[in-house]
Amino acid sequence: MKNIDSYTHTRGESVYLDDIPVVAGTLYAACFDSPVAHGKIINLDLHAAENSPGVVRVLTHKDITGINQIGGIIPDEELFAEYHVHFCGMPVALVIAETEYQARAAVKKIKIEIEPLPIITDPREAAEKGELIVPPRTFKIGECDTTWDQCDHIFVGRADTNGQEHLYIETQGAYAIPGEQGVVKIYSSTQSPTAVQRAVSKVTGLAMHLLEVDVTRLGGGFGGKEDQANTWAALCALATHILKRPVKYSLSRMEDIRMTGKRHPYSSDFKIGLNKDLKIIAYEVTFYQNAGASADLSPAVLERTLFHCTNTYFIPNVIATAYSCRTNLPPNTAFRGFGGPQGMFVIESAIAKAADELGIDADIIQQRNLLQTGDEFLYGQKVVSEAGECWNKAISLCNLEAAKKEVADFNLKNDQYKKGISVMPICFGISFTNTLMNQARALVHVYTDGSVVVSTGAIEMGQGVNTKILQVVAQVFSIDPSRVKVNSTNTYRIANTSPSAASATADLNGKATLVACSEILSRLKKVAADELKVEESVIELKDELVFTNGIKSGMNWEQLVLTTFAKRISLSEHGHYTTPGIHFDKVAGKGHPFAYHVYGTAITTVTVDCLRGIYEVDSVKLVHDFGSSMNRVIDIGQIEGGLVQGIGWMTLEEVVYDQEGRLRSNALSTYKVPDIYSVPKEIVIEFLDTQKDNLAIFRSKAVGEPPLMYGIGAFFALRNAIRSFNLLSKPAFDAPMTPEKLLLNLYPEKVDAIKRVAKSEEIRETEMEYTSPAAKVI
Ligand code: MOS
Repeated sequence: MKNIDSYTHTRGESVYLDDIPVVAGTLYAACFDSPVAHGKIINLDLHAAENSPGVVRVLTHKDITGINQIGGIIPDEELFAEYHVHFCGMPVALVIAETEYQARAAVKKIKIEIEPLPIITDPREAAEKGELIVPPRTFKIGECDTTWDQCDHIFVGRADTNGQEHLYIETQGAYAIPGEQGVVKIYSSTQSPTAVQRAVSKVTGLAMHLLEVDVTRLGGGFGGKEDQANTWAALCALATHILKRPVKYSLSRMEDIRMTGKRHPYSSDFKIGLNKDLKIIAYEVTFYQNAGASADLSPAVLERTLFHCTNTYFIPNVIATAYSCRTNLPPNTAFRGFGGPQGMFVIESAIAKAADELGIDADIIQQRNLLQTGDEFLYGQKVVSEAGECWNKAISLCNLEAAKKEVADFNLKNDQYKKGISVMPICFGISFTNTLMNQARALVHVYTDGSVVVSTGAIEMGQGVNTKILQVVAQVFSIDPSRVKVNSTNTYRIANTSPSAASATADLNGKATLVACSEILSRLKKVAADELKVEESVIELKDELVFTNGIKSGMNWEQLVLTTFAKRISLSEHGHYTTPGIHFDKVAGKGHPFAYHVYGTAITTVTVDCLRGIYEVDSVKLVHDFGSSMNRVIDIGQIEGGLVQGIGWMTLEEVVYDQEGRLRSNALSTYKVPDIYSVPKEIVIEFLDTQKDNLAIFRSKAVGEPPLMYGIGAFFALRNAIRSFNLLSKPAFDAPMTPEKLLLNLYPEKVDAIKRVAKSEEIRETEMEYTSPAAKVI
């Protein structure tokens, strides 16, 4: 079945936040944010802004009717800076004006005096100074300490991954409208309507039942709107609550890039020990997560880094420690993979380092250590593995030996161009690691004409979850999909939702839909049995007809629905689903946190132009564990999108903050994302189809986040190409491998000279002093 949004998307008729018809009397908000990364506010002069044309009000922390606090996990995040600013981009004041233009014009007239305080941008420095968001976390299995002696090879190293801008096509935004009895209705571009409702409740002081949050769909989220949609919703709702007028704020691209957090950069140290059979028998890793100025979701992201720090390998002795480090950057947040990819990059680096030193291909080590059913993850869960299956299928899909030979031959024949190849197996756990979040509800109404409407807590953000929900309804009732409408996500219909995140949205909400539909179906069957005077067990609904013992009964779907209504039997149901069997002891770091795992293997080939440092991804051929896909078209879309996003993170996208904590890559002119020219020239996706029992909806395994991690393969393929050009080069495990970095790695012996040139450039740049028009830094 095709994506139900494809028609309206193509015609430009899909409704996003900015497409909602604006109510008369609507005001527009714009934020004044801190120009300084850390400091004490000495003076805030709003006078000129308040007297600017069209301005209705300028709000600051003093106007907050509830509490000035939006921290989700830890209450450490002010909505408005009160006495101190903690990052460039921190909201300080909100201008409300008659037009968007007037609001933005007034923002420029706000003056602030800030006494600077020391700025930290580096997570290792933060850790050294004890600036931690939460106490360090450690996951452990076996005994590393006593195993090092038994290792034939031990390698140590460091690995770094940079951040990543979400770059959802639709920027952050919210639109709040006052209702009767103090109600505020909030349209929000959020992955988590309930998180918005809670944050607005705290800030306004209004109880949650006075706050209706409604979401039609998002133009992308990728984790960036899991918690960070709260700010804009809280700002608009506060203004609406105070002014009793509708208030809208849709961020400009540059505001969004500047003020919101990104994927967490990590800096990590590893030590890996192998025996003579190349089995990894010990692994020690320390992660320094750059959390930014407040917790946001960082502790949960940190935990998932630990969960995935051994990727798809069985390692009997592991000690993994993770520090969430407070820096003066915008709070970093969820991003597709939620810390998992950062953890996986480090073990892949460790393996690559071992392979370098041993003079073998990394895939020999990877293959020998793949997870097998019956192994144990370092967090205690027993492994049900498809790793070997995916690996073997991928190897034969691209004929790895032949492909390697082709690469070697090419490299022998060419001086300027070199190819590289890498194998990237993945393993990703599905469920929220915070067990209580693994619950969902669905509300299903069957109308008397036989049409059906379904509401769930799922947010459609382009991933096609609404299509999957619709498929569940149509399949259970065996009716035409055109009879089913998936409604917007609304906190008045579905309460206490978990965010659409952790790749678990279709599973959780699909299963809740299944529960609700199955309940209605059993009532319908009972009615049919009564009417047709047969046993309920012989009734079947198929293609909108009622069958008894496999024979058409003459009763159809519409008649059955009407009859059921006439008998005064409910045609509505509110279904509730919780993932069974999952638990996790956070103190011990042990349990069974995931419903199941998703596996896959990607083989990436790249060509590097060794004169210019530029490169192309020739092909990515992968085998992915879909379970039993319920929508192949949508799932392939998720794989392609995730893969390219991962390649972007690993090779192109460079988030650059200067030492003052100012974002230098603050627009698409300075931040390179993959375009059609940088996607692999060939992507081959093969399905590992399994009919095995799993906890996925209709056994169709989660597909949102895992494919991003295939992109890690591009980094290692590039690294291999570099080493084919210059075996003396030992490129640091420092992603992204941008063309600039790649060029330096091709000619390590010339780097000093290059650095001297760069240094003089840097001097010139510092001379061009940065000044914000609104800022006076004292
Ligand atoms: Mo997603 S990174 O779990 O919002």
